[in-house]
Amino acid sequence: MLALMDRATTLWRIPVVGRAKGRVIRRLIERRRPTRAIEIGSLLGYSAILIAGTLPPRGRLTCLESNPYLAKFVKSNAEVAGLGRRVKVVAGDALRIIPLLSGRFDFVLIDAAKEDYLDYLRQLEPKLVPGAAVVADNTGVFRREVAPYLEHVRDANGRWQSRAYDFGDDAIEVSIFRA
Ligand SMILES: C[S@@+](CC[C@H](N)C(=O)[O-])C[C@H]1O[C@@H](n2cnc3c(N)ncnc32)[C@H](O)[C@@H]1O
Repeated sequence: MLALMDRATTLWRIPVVGRAKGRVIRRLIERRRPTRAIEIGSLLGYSAILIAGTLPPRGRLTCLESNPYLAKFVKSNAEVAGLGRRVKVVAGDALRIIPLLSGRFDFVLIDAAKEDYLDYLRQLEPKLVPGAAVVADNTGVFRREVAPYLEHVRDANGRWQSRAYDFGDDAIEVSIFRA
């Protein structure tokens, strides 16, 4: 499924995390073995399938997608990939939904409105377990829009330990919550 999506998204230049960043995300999940993941911005479900397919057997992923039409696609693509039981999709604006979520998360992918990255994170912080990993996509291409987010996670006196992964044409930021 991901190989097929890789070809289609490259051909049509659809903005998904893609193979190179996907490898880093996969390694991170394999190393840390999170069980309660959340994704902000799912589009067609590429990153959702990547994350849910790498989580350990009892792992679950909640996807927040503001476009209800796309949210249905994410759900059906996850089902086609055999991950329907692991992936829950909530349609709506993440900034309205996050405060309503119960429980705590140990893995996050932020990949929705770039200027809102810091707001998503601030809403999520009380819902993260110590050691939770947060991946922010497009921190190279949209470095100006995500500057407040990067300042927050890179603050030496803050609650985060953070590093950038540079892919030449773009970057991701991987931040570990110290609590
Ligand atoms: C770059 S795409 C996500 C790509 C996806 N993570 C992947 O790699 O397969 C961004 C998505 O975020 C969604 N989005 C934008 N603002 C949002 C918000 N406030 N809440 C939830 N989703 C949002 C858009 O509808 C779009 O589908």
